[in-house]
Amino acid sequence: MRRAVCPGSFDPVTLGHLDIVERASKIYDSVTVAVLVNKTKSSLYTVAERMALLTQVTAEYGNVRVDSFHGLLVDYCKDHEIPVIVKGLRAISDFDYELQMAQMNHGLAGVETLFMTTNPLYSFLSSSLVKEVARYGGDVSTLVPELVHTSLTERMARP
Ligand code: PNS
Repeated sequence: MRRAVCPGSFDPVTLGHLDIVERASKIYDSVTVAVLVNKTKSSLYTVAERMALLTQVTAEYGNVRVDSFHGLLVDYCKDHEIPVIVKGLRAISDFDYELQMAQMNHGLAGVETLFMTTNPLYSFLSSSLVKEVARYGGDVSTLVPELVHTSLTERMARP
């Protein structure tokens, strides 16, 4: 069985993430979306909330599961016998750091990284920008799944 992982913070999942996960699900038999548990980074959504949103928006693909991990991604890959990491590349600015991580992950454990070029519709899109725009009342309805949009609207309205 060909397995791959799409790792990230997903705080929250955007249509850019979803595009990559969907395309990966057509190439691999099984795709795991792995949410990084990062206690040093402040987040809008808890890991459980991020996983719940991801589970709902990826349910239609059939071969996608959602999990969380902490520590090194390559250790997660080894434990789950996943040989490939799939990442989206939005712009050349992503490339430098992504190349370093891909080379490190290959050097550490022989885990391969497959880069997919992001749909140009989403090349400017990041979870951080979505949160900032939503926080100040901007319209992010075309940038995130409907479920996430509803959740963001409710969360931003909280005092
Ligand atoms: O969505 P993000 O925050 O850009 O995702 C980054 C992520 C989770 C893919 C990356 O930070 C990661 O793999 N972290 C796990 C820790 C690790 O393996 N670090 C060494 C990378 S070479």
